[in-house]
Amino acid sequence: MIVLGIETSCDETAAAVVDDARVIHANVVLSQIEEHRLYGGVVPEVAARSHLEHADSVIAQAMQDANMSFKDLDCIAATTGPGLIGGVLVGAMSAKAIALASGKPFVAVNHLEGHALTVRLTNDVPFPYLLLLVSGGHCQLLICEGVGQYKRLGTTIDDAAGEAFDKTAKMLGLGYPGGPLVEKAAVGGDAKRFNLPRPMKGRPGCDFSFSGLKTSVRRAVETLDGPLGLDATRDLAASFQLAVAETLVTRTKNAIKMAKDIHPNIKHLVVAGGVAANQAIGTALTELAEKSNMSLVKPAPALCTDNGAMIAWAGLERFRLGHSDPLDFKARPRWPLDPDAPSAAYAGAKA
Ligand code: KG4
Ligand code: ZN
Repeated sequence: MIVLGIETSCDETAAAVVDDARVIHANVVLSQIEEHRLYGGVVPEVAARSHLEHADSVIAQAMQDANMSFKDLDCIAATTGPGLIGGVLVGAMSAKAIALASGKPFVAVNHLEGHALTVRLTNDVPFPYLLLLVSGGHCQLLICEGVGQYKRLGTTIDDAAGEAFDKTAKMLGLGYPGGPLVEKAAVGGDAKRFNLPRPMKGRPGCDFSFSGLKTSVRRAVETLDGPLGLDATRDLAASFQLAVAETLVTRTKNAIKMAKDIHPNIKHLVVAGGVAANQAIGTALTELAEKSNMSLVKPAPALCTDNGAMIAWAGLERFRLGHSDPLDFKARPRWPLDPDAPSAAYAGAKA
């Protein structure tokens, strides 16, 4: 089974071809970072126009890299949400057009399910597993029980972890996108110099909050009064990174307990999304997994950030179970993986 996957929900125009023997035949990712850098963040209108301009050539490149034509495909998958709707529409319409012209089925993929299932493309990870999804738009803990079957244990009540990295980078004058720049700046920094909060620490449940941490970074910058020197930037980046790492660890620890109550034999903790590329966070989570008698599994960094292979793979997992979608399937700006999950504040209060 061979699937083309198209991803256009944020600031990467991406297309990939994967098969059910878990071979990635092509994985083309065109980043729009340079177009958004000027504005210090992703501008939806700019993103949508850029997807429109580049989607055709990115898809053609993926087919060429795979040395295949559309007739070799079993189905065409695309992200149909959640995400910036202008971009989502471009990818979804491209996929539907290819499906119509080639007479192949179309599979609508939830971007979050793409992140959730990627690990099964690269590793032998059976269901159920616990997933920490940490990206620029999301910060969630989910039990993945099967394709299309997710139990959300916690989510953020305000900012996502990646968003906090991006805003901190801006305050430190490091530029965009923030995550990798904060990580680089933190090398050799004194993570104990600034006493930043660990949001939600000691609270039951496993919801997240990052806006208070962001405010504390801003106050620390203001207190320093004047242009930040190299030392202060390094120490503040390190202190912030440690605060995020410890927060992710304490909340995930609660989630492990909740997951084991439901599935006593659950073995794998999977971390996915752009923030999963952070080494310090990876090390902290590996320690937590070991202490909890679980193994941490992290897809390769290139598969943690947005890409087409994750959409092709999620499409393949859905298609081989018999799912495909009509060509009038509507793009969705919001599309929770677990529609029955209680809202964040309620989940936190209840647990
Ligand atoms: O999954 P992703 O590519 O896109 C979304 O779906 O959001 O994640 C992008 C996010 C950005 O906020 C970026 O700053 C963050 O992931 N990120 C990192 C690192 N690399 C990317 N955060 C911390 N450390 C990193 N090394
Ligand atoms: Zn993503």
